[in-house]
Amino acid sequence: MKPILIDNKINNFSKRINVDADKSISIRWALFASQAIGKSTAYNLLMSEDVLSTIKCLKKLGIKINLTKKKCEIYGNGINGFNFKKNIVLNAGNSGTLGRLILPLLIKSPEKIKLVGDKSLSKRDFTRIINPLQKFGAEFFPNKKKIPLYIKGSNFIRPISYIENRGSAQCKSAVMLASLNAPGITKIKAKKSRNHTENFFKNLNIPIKIRKKKNYDLIEVHGEKNFSAFKYKIPGDISSSAFFIVLTILSKNSKLIIRNVNINPSRDGVIRILKKMGAKIHYENIKIYKGEKIANIHVRSSKYIKSIKCPTKLNSSAIDEFLIIFLVAAKASGVSYFNNLEELNQKESKRLNLGSKILNLMGVKTKLTDNSIKIYGNPYLQVKKKCVIKNYLGDHRIMAMSTIAALSIGGKWEIHNPDSINTSFPSFFKILKKNFKARII
Ligand code: S3P
Repeated sequence: MKPILIDNKINNFSKRINVDADKSISIRWALFASQAIGKSTAYNLLMSEDVLSTIKCLKKLGIKINLTKKKCEIYGNGINGFNFKKNIVLNAGNSGTLGRLILPLLIKSPEKIKLVGDKSLSKRDFTRIINPLQKFGAEFFPNKKKIPLYIKGSNFIRPISYIENRGSAQCKSAVMLASLNAPGITKIKAKKSRNHTENFFKNLNIPIKIRKKKNYDLIEVHGEKNFSAFKYKIPGDISSSAFFIVLTILSKNSKLIIRNVNINPSRDGVIRILKKMGAKIHYENIKIYKGEKIANIHVRSSKYIKSIKCPTKLNSSAIDEFLIIFLVAAKASGVSYFNNLEELNQKESKRLNLGSKILNLMGVKTKLTDNSIKIYGNPYLQVKKKCVIKNYLGDHRIMAMSTIAALSIGGKWEIHNPDSINTSFPSFFKILKKNFKARII
């Protein structure tokens, strides 16, 4: 697809919008439904490439799925109920969550199964998943760190004890999903991270015990217990919302309401960080649905933005939103500091490095290390040079951050690979054009 050109800021607005459904929940719903007994139904499933890749992988594993615009039905055959044929190749596309969460469901496969993905996913670390799954009893070929790889399961799966100290929900969830196949109790000590997988376990009555400590959780799962099919209405994604929240904060005299968003406290670090920077955001109509917290997010423009020394305990709950937070820091008065962010360079692209590069292109000074960034904010920031955004491994969040920078801060922008947004937020440009009258060529 051709690059997009933007050289106009957005005018002031007062709008109500919905964003696309939560990606983490959509992928998890499909994976859990594939292990349930009977027909599970999801409404408002995210129709993005990452979720469609999940559905394709499950179909290859013999799971019957009906997908229409209105709903998705998955017919599970119980735990380990896949049809393990010879020579199955699963393509996780761009999705780290899919790649890392499908492997634990294959640890009993009698056949070798190949896992592949796109250029970005093929650069990402898989040892963090391979190591614990080997302890359960699965085998990996060839013995290396990245995809493409083959997994072969075992009939002699055993439960494990595992320490997760990155704050990675993917690692924690992979071990929890593998434990479904393990007799006895799997024990996990996990640094705090998004807890959607725990919520699915609880809702599906899969035996789980969670003891919450200050900095970590102790989780125990009792494996080999089948569970019944279930229904799910998927709420809006806070990571997708974050782009429009920041667009509002940085635009003049504007107001926005985003309806029905999942503001699970293990995901809403972006809101807490932006509020510390002086943003005017609040929640209304708060509800609890299947353990997730749902609300309408209300946001207004900010005349004055404060710099921040970002508390590292918020890192995991804002991990996908730092790029867009950096943009707010660029317009803050004073120097902002973000530390212990080495995981940002493990994402779809090296987001810490690339985020800094984009700010530099915009004329913002930064100081970068392997795990931290200092951003020298300027409330009067004007982008003087043309910003060309390319060669970023098609990272959807780099693309969306650049688009929001162009529409809120201004300057001339040429942004390549705009279709990368389809991995997570297919309605992004439609919402910008329809609701915000964005001029994007
Ligand atoms: C996700 C966890 C996070 C996040 C990713 C989605 C999940 O990754 O960055 O976009 O759904 O569990 P890590 O677990 O690697 O931090």
